Amino acid sequence: MNVCVTAGPTREYIDPVRFISNRSSGKMGYALAQVIAEAGHNVDLISGPVSLAAPEKVRLTPVQTAADMLNAVLEKLPEMDMLIMAAAVSDYTLPEINPHKIKKQEDCLTLSLVKTQDVLKNVSQQSHHAFVVGFAAESEHLLENARIKLESKHLDMIVANNILTEGIGFGSDQNAGVMLFPEGHQQVIEKCSKYDFAKAIFASACERMAHNAPLEKQESM
Ligand code: CTP
Repeated sequence: MNVCVTAGPTREYIDPVRFISNRSSGKMGYALAQVIAEAGHNVDLISGPVSLAAPEKVRLTPVQTAADMLNAVLEKLPEMDMLIMAAAVSDYTLPEINPHKIKKQEDCLTLSLVKTQDVLKNVSQQSHHAFVVGFAAESEHLLENARIKLESKHLDMIVANNILTEGIGFGSDQNAGVMLFPEGHQQVIEKCSKYDFAKAIFASACERMAHNAPLEKQESM
């Protein structure tokens, strides 16, 4: 299979030295890329800036901004059998990057931001055959918010995690969460290493994919 995994944060530049970003370390996406490559699949890893080395046998596409991430995903979409969007894509960006370093003048500086494009919503508007997995990073109403994202982004599966739970999520080597599926089924993944978490996600995604696929496609998988 050709699997595309996105990972890490994006950076939205304010001027040549400053940017808006988030706390994503990329560890979850890199663990997914590693697990899927170890299972013998072709993996494209589209990654925002992180301090991790790409796993062996994974093709890395480094990106910076949400717009770069969108372009890279859409470029690879026609070949994809599965897309896993583990990246923490910035929701807002600057309408224009200041070409020079902003000087310190007034006591108060206001930045005006505009929404970025949603990668997953864009993917759902294209014609493609990929099984699409999203993540939902939530600090409250975990399952309700994740199900809204599953439906509004037309996903085949979403992995919800509570970013306020101690010892998991951003920067940590462990994770815990819940996988949700369109027809209402959900499955808990207990706290474990991000490597084992990635294994659980990929196993469920493969199982679902096989279940959804027409018979002649299953025979060639
Ligand atoms: N995502 C995306 N494009 C964006 C923002 C997010 O494709 N511009 C993807 C993420 O990679 C993730 C899913 O959408 O798989 C949910 O991301 P999340 O940050 O949890 O939610 P948002 O849709 O950004 O909504 P909110 O920030 O309001 O929770």
